[in-house]
Amino acid sequence: MIENLKQEIKNKLENYIKENLNVEVSIVVEEPKNSSLGDISVPMFSIVKILRKPMPEIVAMAVEAIKSFDLPIVDIKTVGAYVNLFVDKAKLSKNIILDCIEKESDYGKSEIGLGKNVTLDYSSPNIAKSFSIGHLRSTMIGNSLKLIMKKCSYNTFAINYLGDWGTQFGKMIVAFKKWGNKDVIMADPISELTKLYVKFHVEAEKNPSLEDEAREAFRQMELANPEYLELWRWIREESLKESKQIYDLLEIDFDSYNGEAFYNDKMDAVVDELESKNLLVLDNGAKIVNLGDDIPPALIKRSDGGSLYITRDLAAVFYRKNEYKFDKILYVVGNEQKLHFVQLKRLVEKMGYDFANQIEHVNFGLYLTDGKKASTRKGNVVKLYDVLMRAINLAKESIEAKNPNLANKDEIAKYVGIAAIVFQDLKNFRSLDVEFNIDEALKFEGQTGPYLQYTSVRIASILKNQELDLNYIDSKLFEREHYFELVKLVSQFKMVIEKASIEYAPSVIAKYLLNLAASFNHFYSIEKINVSDLNIRNTNLALAKSVRIVLNEGLRLLGIKYLDEM
Ligand code: ARG
Repeated sequence: MIENLKQEIKNKLENYIKENLNVEVSIVVEEPKNSSLGDISVPMFSIVKILRKPMPEIVAMAVEAIKSFDLPIVDIKTVGAYVNLFVDKAKLSKNIILDCIEKESDYGKSEIGLGKNVTLDYSSPNIAKSFSIGHLRSTMIGNSLKLIMKKCSYNTFAINYLGDWGTQFGKMIVAFKKWGNKDVIMADPISELTKLYVKFHVEAEKNPSLEDEAREAFRQMELANPEYLELWRWIREESLKESKQIYDLLEIDFDSYNGEAFYNDKMDAVVDELESKNLLVLDNGAKIVNLGDDIPPALIKRSDGGSLYITRDLAAVFYRKNEYKFDKILYVVGNEQKLHFVQLKRLVEKMGYDFANQIEHVNFGLYLTDGKKASTRKGNVVKLYDVLMRAINLAKESIEAKNPNLANKDEIAKYVGIAAIVFQDLKNFRSLDVEFNIDEALKFEGQTGPYLQYTSVRIASILKNQELDLNYIDSKLFEREHYFELVKLVSQFKMVIEKASIEYAPSVIAKYLLNLAASFNHFYSIEKINVSDLNIRNTNLALAKSVRIVLNEGLRLLGIKYLDEM
């Protein structure tokens, strides 16, 4: 509500100037670094430039205007070009805390996406290959963005665009027919399929004609060769099991699993449209679209008629526009595909559709281990499911050591382990690389998911068996610095969520929650909460309760479970 108040001052002052001076200005409202100067500060520099009047005159006008607004402001002081306001902290704070307690998990809800549709394309693993660390990042970031968008009232549609089509399936079919065995594959699909894939490449080094065979096999698939399609379907089902295991563990779901193959019969129409708009150019038998001097052309059809990754994405974006009527489409995909999405956007633009600007590549960086790219490629197949289980087992050990009598230890360990992995990722702005370190991530102190869960549990135990009576709130207490600090943070929740939705950045929420938890722990280190004085106790409890509401809801938006005990 400090945020609301700032917004109100901005709007009212802008209107005032418009009505009285007939000039449109944009007012900046900020919080002074040093709170002894005031709670809110309105600098007049930019207005002076526009109105071309002496500074003291402008400042005096602003003071008069603000006085006339009937806002919870108790004092106004001016310093040079700054109009500094002291707010009625007691009144304001009480409203904020009561509002939070009343709304509970609805607190922070925003309306900025009301009536708008956002389509999110995330996770999207490649069938017959192991679920990579990059896909895990995409899964966690995408899931959190979906929850954030929903909280901002957007209609969301989550798509797992499986990499289930392309020349690599031609390779797989050739390899399977030459060296494969169904029973062996069923026993451990991804590992066995990976072995076949690796073998294909080893053999193709010696015998390059295998590559031609693979291309031909894929072409046959595109022509709906029943034997190949049957085999493909089976490989798809078997490999999807590994991804589903991970989704089940993380409790993540999708509205659609329509992958690349789904667009097999939808590409011709797009290619025809490119043709009719004279955008397709023949290039050594292949068909390309020139996209300008700054980026390489897009290869739309191979010389053998085979389609490409971008051809399928192009068909998909039109299908989705039509099907989901998106106002935004987010592709949560690694930095290394930057060019691909620049090309996709440019293609749509060249075709004359202005929804090109609704296409957003929500890019992210790599996972590093010891400063080097963590890889799941080639022979060293690290199963991510095993990595997640390792985090969970370590969490179990630590719970066993700290709190052996806890009920539901297994369930709690699961949620702590997941919180560690998810938070380690989401606390960083997504385009940055992340140092992957399970032991660090699992610590109960420091910037970790378990630390936030632990703070919430701590508050839960403070609130346990306490009767909170909101009739006994002593608003005056909120004027004290460590109280007001917390109230201010609670009041920022909605703005933080909106910022995260605008920047497609769960890290905005993650960082905010770390601040909130640190502020609460600081508060708790100087203030006993369950004191005997009725007013103080209830005020403290109400504050603690609102902090927990925000913490829990913030964790939920990141895809992390809050706990009552741990
Ligand atoms: N399957 C792709 C990969 O693993 C990611 C797909 C991303 N989404 C998209 N619409 N291209 O590289």
